[in-house]
Amino acid sequence: MEQEKINLLRRTGAPLLAWYAANRRDLPWRRTKDPYKIWVSEIMLQQTRVAAVIPYYERWMAALPDVSALAAIDEGSLMKLWEGLGYYSRARNLQKAAKIIVNDLGGEFPRSREGLLALPGVGEYTAGAVASIAFGLPVPAVDGNVLRLAARVADLRGNVLDPGVKKDIAAAMELAVPPEDPGSYNQALMDLGATICLPNGQPLCEDCPLRGLCRARELGIQAQLPLREKKARRRQEELTVFVLVREGKIALRQRPDSGLLAGLWEFPHVPGTLDETAAGEALAAFGLTALDWRQKLTARHLFTHVTWEMTGYEVLVKGTDTPGFTWADEAALSALAVPSAFRKYLAAAKSALAAAR
Ligand code: ADE
Repeated sequence: MEQEKINLLRRTGAPLLAWYAANRRDLPWRRTKDPYKIWVSEIMLQQTRVAAVIPYYERWMAALPDVSALAAIDEGSLMKLWEGLGYYSRARNLQKAAKIIVNDLGGEFPRSREGLLALPGVGEYTAGAVASIAFGLPVPAVDGNVLRLAARVADLRGNVLDPGVKKDIAAAMELAVPPEDPGSYNQALMDLGATICLPNGQPLCEDCPLRGLCRARELGIQAQLPLREKKARRRQEELTVFVLVREGKIALRQRPDSGLLAGLWEFPHVPGTLDETAAGEALAAFGLTALDWRQKLTARHLFTHVTWEMTGYEVLVKGTDTPGFTWADEAALSALAVPSAFRKYLAAAKSALAAAR
């Protein structure tokens, strides 16, 4: 990421902390520094909205006030406490981790990001959240809210669904976290993302403490960011395509009546990228002999799921009639439906026929 953009993110600390001091949501897990309570809240909040979490959190803490109580509870009661929250493996992982803390770590909650990451059910985001909120460590907690905010503030155009882009933003946020209060900073980002820098449609920029910094707002593109592109990975196919000229006519063949471009007319082609020697052998297999290699024509065509990388040869040939080939004059070439994947070859074919006239 450019230094200028990193600097923009670094300037978010002071306005966010001031805004948070005045506007923080009063949530039960914000009235404690107990790592156990903060950890449980962050696990609950992973897939569930704040309003839905609050009553579960209160009930859980009444029943299981510390990590040893969690380690000791029976499975049925544990599931009952989680009932309705969904993603039940979260509750099972909480108990697995509690047993590790009690049995292997002497009851001491891990106090580093790495130590937290080693617990079942704790990923980068949760480790960052607990480390910063409970222990004041200067680490980011990057979730979808933070990616959206960072993309807008610094006008980042990368696809935030791309792991490389995420990593880049996380590295920049590492530098943006203000060491004087990392926990408040990360929670300010959560609150801002939940209440002002909204996804889908227009964020409430007039109320935003970062409105003076935000590049996307300056450019008026805040509703367009972040970019979230689900990449449909296109398969690549290589083809060697022939524009074959014989006695003032061009060889075409009809595609099969099912599948891609069904029933349309195409120039004969073979799989792979062939040089002239190999292409000459392919022609021989068609019963044709090259008299003159006229030009090489490469082209690419993007279908939804496939990319064709085409190498083409315009060749003057002689030879017998090849089964499946139709030799088209200008009128026939214009009358038959040739799909746009072959547009470049169609243009070459037409000019070859025009030149032969
Ligand atoms: N979402 C995830 N963690 C949160 C927290 N600590 N406060 C508010 N919303 C959250």
